[in-house]
Amino acid sequence: MLKVEGVGFHYVAGTEVLRDLSFSASAGDIVALVGRNGAGKSTLLRLLNGLLKPTRGTVTIDGNVTAETPVHLISRSIGTVFQSPEQQIFNATVRDEVMFGPRNLPITAEERETRVREALERTRLTDQSAVHPLDLDQAKRRFVALASVLATRPPALLLDEPQRGLDARGRLLLERIVLEEQAKGCCVVIVCHDMEFVARLATRVIALSDGEISADRPPAEFFLDAKLTAGASVEAPDILRVSQQLGLPPCLTPAAFAEAWVARSSEPANRT
Ligand SMILES: Nc1ncnc2c1ncn2[C@@H]1O[C@H](COP(=O)(O)OP(=O)(O)O)[C@@H](O)[C@H]1O
Ligand SMILES: [Mg+2]
Repeated sequence: MLKVEGVGFHYVAGTEVLRDLSFSASAGDIVALVGRNGAGKSTLLRLLNGLLKPTRGTVTIDGNVTAETPVHLISRSIGTVFQSPEQQIFNATVRDEVMFGPRNLPITAEERETRVREALERTRLTDQSAVHPLDLDQAKRRFVALASVLATRPPALLLDEPQRGLDARGRLLLERIVLEEQAKGCCVVIVCHDMEFVARLATRVIALSDGEISADRPPAEFFLDAKLTAGASVEAPDILRVSQQLGLPPCLTPAAFAEAWVARSSEPANRT
C-alpha cells in the first residue's frame, strides 16, 4: 500500500531533515510514528501524501510514485488529518466541508450523500452539520477534518497527533474509528505521543531519531527494549513497569495485565 525507499528530504539545502528512510506498510497495519518534537514526523506524513516530494529516493502509494503523480490523484489513495485541523478546513458548514472530498470523486450523487451521512454519524457530528466548522471547539474541528477524510474512503489514512485537544470520550471515539478503519483493511499511519494508545492499537512502531528510523518493531518488542524507547525519547506504558515489578510476564495493556494476574493467582502455589 505504502512504500518508502531510500528517502531523504531537506527544506533548506544542506540541512537534511530525513535521511535514507525505508519502510513499507500494508492494508490493516496501524503504524505508530513516534519521536521527539522536530524529529521529522509531520514532514514524513507530507512526503507520504505527496505534498512534499523526496529530495532522494521514492515514495510509492498504492502503486503510484508520488513524485510523478498529481497530488489530487494521490489524495484518492491517502487521506490526511493534519496536526492543526484549521489548516484543512475552508467551507462554511460542517456538511459542506465533509462533502468537499466526495464532490470531487467520480461517484453518484446518492453515493456522495451516503458517504457524508455516514462520516458525520461516525464522528458524532450529525447534529452540527449546519454549523460553521470554525465555531466548533478544537476537538470537534479535529473530527470535522477526520469526517471529511473518511467520506472519501481512502485505503490509507494519515493522522498527525489526532489525540491533541481531545477529552477521554473523544479519544475513545477516535480509537474506535481507527479500529474500524483497520478492520476494513485501511492502512493507518498515526503520529502519536500517547504510548498507552500505541501499545493497545499499533501493529508497528516506527521511531524517528536524528532524521533516521531508529526502530521499526511490533510494540511488544519496541517497548521492552529500553535503548529503543530512549532513542525515540518515549516512555513505555506504566503498566509494563508495574507488571515487571510484580514479577509478571511483561504486559503492555490493562487487558494483558489482568490476564497475567488471573493466571498467576490460579497457580496452585498462589491459591489461598
Ligand atoms: N516548512 C518548513 N520549512 C523549513 N523547515 C521546516 C519546515 N517544516 C518543518 N521544518 C523543520 O523540519 C524539522 C522536522 O519538523 P517536523 O516534521 O514538523 O517534526 P515533528 O513533526 O516530528 O515535530 C524541524 O527541524 C523543523 O524545524
Ligand atoms: Mg509534527
